[in-house]
Amino acid sequence: MVYEVRQLQEQDGPAAWRLGSVVFGYHASPAPEDFSLVPGRVTWGVLDGDRLIAKAVDREQGQWFGGRIVPTSGVAGVAVAPEARRGGVGRQVLTRLLAGARERGAALSALFPSTPHPYRRLGWEEVGALTYLSVPTSALAAIRPGPGVTLRPAAIEDVPAVQALYRDWARSGTGMMERSGLLYDTTPEKFLAAYDGVTVAVGATGAVEGYASWVRGPHTDPVARVTAHDLVATTPEAQSALLAMFGGWASVAPTTVLRLGQGDPALLEIPTTLVTVDSRQPWMLRLVDAPAAIAARGWPGHLTGAVDLELADPECRWNAGPWRLVLDGGIGRLEPGGSGGVRFTPRGLAAWYAGAATPSALRRAGLLSGDAVADPLLSAATAGPVPVLHDFF
Ligand SMILES: CC(C)(COP(=O)(O)OP(=O)(O)OC[C@H]1O[C@@H](n2cnc3c(N)ncnc32)[C@H](O)[C@@H]1OP(=O)(O)O)[C@@H](O)C(=O)NCCC(=O)NCCS
Repeated sequence: MVYEVRQLQEQDGPAAWRLGSVVFGYHASPAPEDFSLVPGRVTWGVLDGDRLIAKAVDREQGQWFGGRIVPTSGVAGVAVAPEARRGGVGRQVLTRLLAGARERGAALSALFPSTPHPYRRLGWEEVGALTYLSVPTSALAAIRPGPGVTLRPAAIEDVPAVQALYRDWARSGTGMMERSGLLYDTTPEKFLAAYDGVTVAVGATGAVEGYASWVRGPHTDPVARVTAHDLVATTPEAQSALLAMFGGWASVAPTTVLRLGQGDPALLEIPTTLVTVDSRQPWMLRLVDAPAAIAARGWPGHLTGAVDLELADPECRWNAGPWRLVLDGGIGRLEPGGSGGVRFTPRGLAAWYAGAATPSALRRAGLLSGDAVADPLLSAATAGPVPVLHDFF
């Protein structure tokens, strides 16, 4: 069966809404008026005659790798009509999306899978997770607030400083979202209205040294909770003060839920072993345009070297072939050619790029093969903070 695969237009909006809302179960809600017209979102569809049978959205976003923002295609709303599933239609719409994303300048693609297999088959690999941790609030009550720090609710004028703190934090991470661009509304009023509270920690000099954006759940019973979506501090004093503030909820909200990634400094302070995972949503990565992705991210400044790679990539054929990876004082590039001694699958390349797996682990998983002499260089090149993404899409 030959289907038409194309970018959906305004007139396709109702069909796209119908397909997505039924598949994901929000069909009782009315469609937003601007559904098909959101700048920064391109929807690709598969049509059987005039019937939309599959769709997938390419979101224009940026994610931080090695201290630089890499243009990324955030894939969302992937839906195939129930009657058309398992017939290769999902594959068709996603491979077309990848080509379109490259044409518009995306170097990477990221997504939160409902099931990993179809995405693994197309070259994405799991590199991290969006994690909320559950902590007994009483344990946080034992923390002493840091000296010299004052807490207060954020005012409109604080929002630029708060957003700058997030950005510095994202810059030092791996895979964090850049919260600006077409899909992020950075207006201070909207930011503050999204939470029950945004608390800033102000240091002795008057500078904002940390913030927490939080939501107070309903009730005061044993399941009541306060959830911190961001907890960011640049000083230990600000971190202690913010954690201690959550401890102050112990009598009415016995559980505090914190969105914290692996390696977060708050985990070095929370004084209990009773931290459990409240929810965990893995996310996956893929290189859309390998030379662009290598050039766009930052690399360790102390590393210099070259590795001859052979990239396999049946879905993004422009990536396939022999390339020489050259790293030179913080800059990286892929030059065509070389002996192709080190062979990456697309999934292996993604996991390596994010520093989510060592060359040794990738070899054991069958995602990397060939000459192992350069493994220490490859390992050092993407060693860094564990990939963390705090923004669901
Ligand atoms: C997941 C979904 C998009 C896949 O689309 P599809 O057209 O059925 O996928 P394809 O036929 O192109 O299959 C691609 C591969 O994924 C596999 N696959 C498809 N659906 C799968 C599922 N739900 N779980 C595991 N594997 C699945 C296929 O067997 C095939 O693997 P193979 O190449 O090893 O045989 C589709 O089933 C769907 O819309 N599901 C409900 C909504 C959803 O989960 N969307 C994803 C949100 S992240």
